[in-house]
Amino acid sequence: MTDARPIAIFDSGIGGLTVLAALQRRLPGERFVYLGDTARLPYGTKSAETVVRYAVRAAGFLAGHDAKLLVVACNSVSASALPALEEAMEVPVIGVVAPGARTALAATRGRVGVIGTESTVASGAYERALRALRPDVEVTARACPLFVPLAEEGWWDHPVTREVAALYLEPFTGGRVDTLILGCTHYPLLRPAIAAALGDGVRLVDSAEAVAAEVEALVAHRDLGGKGGGGVRLLVTDAAARIDRIAGLILPGTAVHLELVDLPD
Ligand code: DGL
Repeated sequence: MTDARPIAIFDSGIGGLTVLAALQRRLPGERFVYLGDTARLPYGTKSAETVVRYAVRAAGFLAGHDAKLLVVACNSVSASALPALEEAMEVPVIGVVAPGARTALAATRGRVGVIGTESTVASGAYERALRALRPDVEVTARACPLFVPLAEEGWWDHPVTREVAALYLEPFTGGRVDTLILGCTHYPLLRPAIAAALGDGVRLVDSAEAVAAEVEALVAHRDLGGKGGGGVRLLVTDAAARIDRIAGLILPGTAVHLELVDLPD
């Protein structure tokens, strides 16, 4: 059996494209529909109630595109709104926090750092996910709110980004953590600047690969494979020219054409 319905992916902006790129590598025959809620970005500075409201509206919109499953490629949404989305959607919903926590635990010797948006860090979602699997793990978390605008600006390895990274990441240097979770889907874009600030000896965990592996397993298990075709639709709620340019950099093999959409209340 084949299931030609698309896999829906959702983020507040371009960060989730790092997850889409990993999904495309693993599941080249699938169709994808990506929604970046760029008109409401950033989500990560907003309250959990607002993030839930935005997320449920975006998921409802994607359900209208006949998606066969929803990948929540946003840590801020995964941290605060996953139960609400699971309740609202009839199809499986996969978030990024649990796969990221599992990958970190497979890598760590016991001291894990977490960086994310203010709302992800305030939610404590990573600490809970990590401690549920390994109660004695040491966790240090810090919000890095300037990283999202720097990533959206395309300043991925800019001197300003390196300076900001050095300030934010100081608590993770000097052997205080051995593994750092990039708990925001924008942050893998800043990987060189983050790695430079940390120096050697800290393993960086990006949940994109772990999420893609989980989606691949789910598609196989539930016999949801699309087999053939492929293709990506990129929907945004505000189509700034720079998003077009940056999407092209994250998805080099994909013809990028942004479609402007409005999310009904
Ligand atoms: N990419 C989103 C995340 O993973 C955050 C971006 C935002 O603040 O909107 O949390």
